[in-house]
Amino acid sequence: MLYKQLFAVASILPLISGAKHQRRANSTSTNATLAAEGILSNGLVDLGDWADAYAQAEAFVAGLTNSEKISIITGGDVASANWTALQFKDGGQGPQGYDWTTGWGESSALGMTWDKAAIGRQFSAVALEFYQKGFQVANAPTSQPLGRTPWGGRLVEALGADPYLNGIAFGLGAKAFSDVGVIPGGKHFLLNEQETNRSASGGMGGGGGGFGGGSPPGAGNMTLAARDTSTTESAPYSSNADDKTIHETYLWTFYDAVKNGLGGVMCAMTKVNGTLSCENADLLNTLLKTELGFPGLVFPDVNGQSSAYGSADAGLDYGSSSYWSNDTLVAGIANGSFSQARLDDMVIRNSIGYFKVNLNNGSQPALAGSSDFVDTMGNHSVIVRENGAASLVLLKNTNNALPLVKPRSMALFGSGAGPVMAGPNYVFSVTGAPSTYDGHLAGGSGSGQTSFPYLYTPNSVLTQRAAADHTMIRWILNNTYAASSSSTFNGLSGGTAISQSVTSYATSAEVCLVFINAFSGEGADRTELKNDEQDALVNSVAAECNNTMVVINTVGARLVDQWIENDNITAVVYGGLLGQESGNSIVDVLYGDVNPSGRLPYTIAKNESDYNVEICYTYNCNFTEGNYIDYRYFDKYNVTPRYEFGYGLSYTEFTYGNLTVNTNTTALSSIYPTGVLTVGGKADLWDEVMTVSLSISNTGSVDGNEVAQLYVAYPDVADQPLRQLRGFEKVLIATGAQEPVTFSLRRRDLSYWDVVAQEWALARGTYTFSVGASSRDLRVFGTATVS
Ligand SMILES: *[C@@H]1O[C@H](CO)[C@@H](O)[C@H](O)[C@H]1NC(C)=O
Ligand SMILES: *[C@@H]1O[C@H](CO)[C@@H](O)[C@H](O)[C@H]1NC(C)=O
Ligand SMILES: *[C@@H]1O[C@H](CO)[C@@H](O)[C@H](O)[C@H]1NC(C)=O
Ligand SMILES: *[C@@H]1O[C@H](CO)[C@@H](O)[C@H](O)[C@H]1NC(C)=O
Ligand SMILES: *[C@@H]1O[C@H](CO)[C@@H](O)[C@H](O)[C@H]1NC(C)=O
Ligand SMILES: *[C@@H]1O[C@H](CO)[C@@H](O)[C@H](O)[C@H]1NC(C)=O
Ligand SMILES: *[C@@H]1O[C@H](CO)[C@@H](O)[C@H](O)[C@H]1NC(C)=O
Ligand SMILES: *[C@@H]1O[C@H](CO)[C@@H](O)[C@H](O)[C@H]1NC(C)=O
Ligand SMILES: *[C@@H]1O[C@H](CO)[C@@H](O)[C@H](O)[C@H]1NC(C)=O
Ligand SMILES: *[C@@H]1O[C@H](CO)[C@@H](O)[C@H](O)[C@H]1NC(C)=O
Ligand SMILES: *[C@@H]1O[C@H](CO)[C@@H](O)[C@H](O)[C@H]1NC(C)=O
Ligand SMILES: *[C@@H]1O[C@H](CO)[C@@H](O)[C@H](O)[C@H]1NC(C)=O
Repeated sequence: MLYKQLFAVASILPLISGAKHQRRANSTSTNATLAAEGILSNGLVDLGDWADAYAQAEAFVAGLTNSEKISIITGGDVASANWTALQFKDGGQGPQGYDWTTGWGESSALGMTWDKAAIGRQFSAVALEFYQKGFQVANAPTSQPLGRTPWGGRLVEALGADPYLNGIAFGLGAKAFSDVGVIPGGKHFLLNEQETNRSASGGMGGGGGGFGGGSPPGAGNMTLAARDTSTTESAPYSSNADDKTIHETYLWTFYDAVKNGLGGVMCAMTKVNGTLSCENADLLNTLLKTELGFPGLVFPDVNGQSSAYGSADAGLDYGSSSYWSNDTLVAGIANGSFSQARLDDMVIRNSIGYFKVNLNNGSQPALAGSSDFVDTMGNHSVIVRENGAASLVLLKNTNNALPLVKPRSMALFGSGAGPVMAGPNYVFSVTGAPSTYDGHLAGGSGSGQTSFPYLYTPNSVLTQRAAADHTMIRWILNNTYAASSSSTFNGLSGGTAISQSVTSYATSAEVCLVFINAFSGEGADRTELKNDEQDALVNSVAAECNNTMVVINTVGARLVDQWIENDNITAVVYGGLLGQESGNSIVDVLYGDVNPSGRLPYTIAKNESDYNVEICYTYNCNFTEGNYIDYRYFDKYNVTPRYEFGYGLSYTEFTYGNLTVNTNTTALSSIYPTGVLTVGGKADLWDEVMTVSLSISNTGSVDGNEVAQLYVAYPDVADQPLRQLRGFEKVLIATGAQEPVTFSLRRRDLSYWDVVAQEWALARGTYTFSVGASSRDLRVFGTATVS
């Protein structure tokens, strides 16, 4: 990196106002001419608040030799220019593998808060830890995998299955990292929706190549039915999606992040349309660098690069010295097969983020070693605890079984309630994870692995609460003990001991709490969305205890139909992987110190077969479902979910009323945006064109946060799902009080991708607005006609 080196603003950027980007007709050729498309110096993008950083980067590059430039783009130092290689680090849950960092909850849990302030607060604190440890680039935030299939093993790292919700959170994350002084390196670009066969090591089909190494997930029967091992093509698989789907579902979230300061993009190790994502000019030059005006660096996921010119021409900016060297790129400039402008562009893109986030101000601490005592934990435990509690979704609460009020007796069941035998960290693994965890699950694996300094388990925190309340508390922290109820616990007899079985413990307790979980991570997809052993435990307890409550910590959709309709199951608290304060967050909600306000960021189906998208086992993974993933599919085909997208209960009640829609007819007059191309796309895509306002009253007996959700139905010509989330606001409303809520709709929120015009279009016709407490609990309605 550069230390305290200041550059004069060397040039005024040549800005071409309103320059129109023409999509290239030929998408297979990559050569120096075509590569010019994504070059910043072509002046197509109005750089706005990146302009100063661009000028600094341009001046920096002007002082370098070509061999120094090669060094920079391959992660080397250039001592003469005071450049030290950028240090990159995973992940969204804090600097991975570092001691004295906070053990943050996973991003998938954060997304369940539906709380913009909470999301910004957490990402800012996470970013500060990267900064203080001396990292310049975070391999975060993680927007995708988005959730095309619920079996996706890596959804634990990402922000939820709805592009709008995911995009808002992704944008808040990009802004937070950038503001703190760390270059956000968002991932994965693009269509990297599954782990199976993601990597070139190993073949396709039965072997299940990639880091997973082992066998592909057994999965449900529908997945096995789709498996085709006859292909001779080699991994990684190719995701093939049409232009409309790419724009409206997957590219959508990157608009938010680029607009909000994304300085790096990690291209995926998989292919798109048969070409490696990191060598795919359609993805990198056309979509990311031109349509979105992305000014930063594109860096590859493992094995993402396979060529010198192919990668450089397509838009990869940072890569391996085994491909990029004097003998390739520099020689190519001499013989005309590569361009000097592109090499310079690569270095500009490698350094622009550094200037943009002010890393050149000389203030950043030096890079710490992973076990150096550099304590970055601050008071972040408060945020972990608050956000953990704010993310918990109350799925069921019969007759106000929760919150608990000084129960006389309580029994805990399941290994998920307490610590694993040796903890809290587990061996780093990108080979996937078992489908459940034999202890309290609060962190992920692979690049989602949490580095815990400590872990509060439910068992330990409930014990403190029981002590304060004079609650008798018993536990069996073993999922299968019921199977051998004739045996006795080691040395347990006398005193207050009772007959040693799940039955007698369940019979004797006023409240029975069962803790279950679902695990997965990088390297392999999920093999099941439910678990027989854990579901049997829940059913055994519920057979004897008429006040059974289930607490779930899961990496993604976890089905509950094996027991949800049992009347003895009075409450279900459902959450993600909450980090070091997990036990505190859970107990805060169980006892009502926090009124639950988490909402589902995906659909919980009744059966595995209710989901429409499975894991691909073929080389070509065709996204034939288009935009119809998660609730968009359930709504279109009238499939009744168990709990719909956006669902979540509270300890109070809310009523909705007084909806009004305001339109700005001037802003709506043009079908297509007319603004200049900026960082984040055409400038006026971000203009507010309508507002929807309403009021919400808290008619219950306790204060609470409501998450008001705006769903929009488009005119038919837009060819959109039945309704789509286009606004959410979490508002704290005191009991008896009423609060106003206003949703701001930007031009892009009402636009569809017009594949013929290759532009975002605002359909003429009537839009319907529905606001409610979930995607299927819509309370107030309005319309507006655009003509
Ligand atoms: C490199 O940075 C150091 C510390 O700021 C400064 O003393 C030195 O002059 C710089 N060297 C060059 C070649 O710019
Ligand atoms: C695309 O360009 C390549 C290389 O210039 C050429 O071989 C190919 O025929 C072109 N394809 C189309 C569809 O024009
Ligand atoms: C680069 O591509 C353009 C357009 O397809 C073509 O006209 C030109 O001959 C190509 N140049 C090289 C060196 O391949
Ligand atoms: C690349 O070429 C330059 C100029 O000839 C030379 O100084 C440099 O050492 C070369 N780099 C490598 C890695 O060989
Ligand atoms: C697969 O199908 C068989 C036979 O219909 C059934 O017994 C089994 O439970 C199914 N497995 C899964 C995972 O759905
Ligand atoms: C992939 O191919 C499809 C079908 O031809 C096309 O609609 C889409 O735009 C292509 N994707 C990219 C990134 O070029
Ligand atoms: C759980 O109980 C089963 C059945 O009694 C036993 O086989 C197993 O070892 C126990 N597991 C642990 C972790 O104690
Ligand atoms: C509910 O619990 C009671 C014991 O309190 C038990 O008698 C009953 O069979 C249970 N009901 C179900 C459906 O399991
Ligand atoms: C459970 O059964 C007991 C004993 O019949 C009763 O006092 C209690 O109210 C029941 N609890 C619930 C939640 O139904
Ligand atoms: C994917 O789509 C292509 C083009 O339509 C088709 O040839 C191929 O068979 C499809 N692959 C699978 C696995 O459905
Ligand atoms: C709607 O507005 C009226 C008048 O201000 C107010 O009395 C009523 O409580 C509002 N409705 C809701 C649900 O907030
Ligand atoms: C309506 O939109 C136009 C064009 O974007 C803008 O100039 C104007 O300020 C907007 N009016 C209001 C009331 O927001």
